[in-house]
Amino acid sequence: MKGLILSGGKGTRLRPITYTGAKQLIPIANKPVLFYGIEAIRDAGITDVGIIVGDTREEIRQAVGDGSRWGIHITYIHQPEPLGLAHAVKIAQDFLGNEPFVMYLGDNLVKEGITPFVREFEQMRPNAQILLARVPNPHEFGVAVLEGDRVVRLIEKPKQPPSDLALVGVYMFDEHIFEAVHAIRPSARGELEITDAIQYLIDHGYQVRSHIISGWWKDTGNLDAILEANRILLEDIERDIRAEVDATSRLHGRVSIGEGTRVLHSVIRGPVIIGANCLIENAYVGPFTSIADGVHIVASEIEHSVILEGCRILNVGSRVEDSLLGRNVTVCRDEGKPRAVRLMLGDNSQVNLL
Ligand code: TTP
Repeated sequence: MKGLILSGGKGTRLRPITYTGAKQLIPIANKPVLFYGIEAIRDAGITDVGIIVGDTREEIRQAVGDGSRWGIHITYIHQPEPLGLAHAVKIAQDFLGNEPFVMYLGDNLVKEGITPFVREFEQMRPNAQILLARVPNPHEFGVAVLEGDRVVRLIEKPKQPPSDLALVGVYMFDEHIFEAVHAIRPSARGELEITDAIQYLIDHGYQVRSHIISGWWKDTGNLDAILEANRILLEDIERDIRAEVDATSRLHGRVSIGEGTRVLHSVIRGPVIIGANCLIENAYVGPFTSIADGVHIVASEIEHSVILEGCRILNVGSRVEDSLLGRNVTVCRDEGKPRAVRLMLGDNSQVNLL
């Protein structure tokens, strides 16, 4: 059994962050999203893993390496253009050979892991198996129609959903999927769709089964999803203080702070994770906040946010909330007159002034 993780794509919903970085490397509770997927695959006993990479291939290679730190072997497969999930399968054919494989979308998180899903596929040996979850808003997803465990139809974002069973970004296939990805044509949006490839399998008499998960999962492709994922994963952190904390500071609840960080005259209310070599001074850091290495938060308040390396949040009078800041972003308040908002923002940035 092999693994195939999709870590290319355009990432339009996360611009401007994705102009300069891979969305799969955005840290959730200070660990890149992609690492959770790699660990889920490793935990299912799969050690031969291909990663599809696009424009951000160098950054992903740098962060992930050869897989030895997880005891697995990683092969990088370059997709010159993000032409769809089924296109990614097509270009991975040489790597996958005739072995069955699990395909995992690199921006997805499945809290309970994928081991039961993989074991079920091994026992039942259908030609394909999809992972489903019950959702309140099926019209926003690919939706499956079932007869027992058997999948009889897949519909992309149906106006009138025939069920509440949404496709989660994890799939299992045997070698018949190659017949399907070679046969289908691009969709209206110009991509080779994996749902069309699976529908091809169903229409040609192959067996497609489903597995329904009850636990939490998320496609972290947009800001709200990243903040929710961060909230859910911070629920599980342990208190672990390696920082220098002065006598006037208060740390409440499950707070994790890395080495070399200094906390001066501040209040931190967990669950919160703060990386190494940060400065938190005259500040309030509220629940569900993840702060990466080398960040300074001075005379400011922040809550329910994800802050990447090297950011500076200085003298901000109001609270920073529900925010995602990319690397080395500075947010500060000038004391000069006249009072005005002065901005230097990249394309597609978003600023909400209260
Ligand atoms: P999506 O989130 O569906 O697509 P996207 O990354 O282009 O993002 P957006 O919709 O915001 O423009 O992709 C799911 C995962 O699959 C993600 O990790 C990127 C990856 N992917 C590829 O590797 N190759 C592709 O051709 C596509 C479409 C996605």
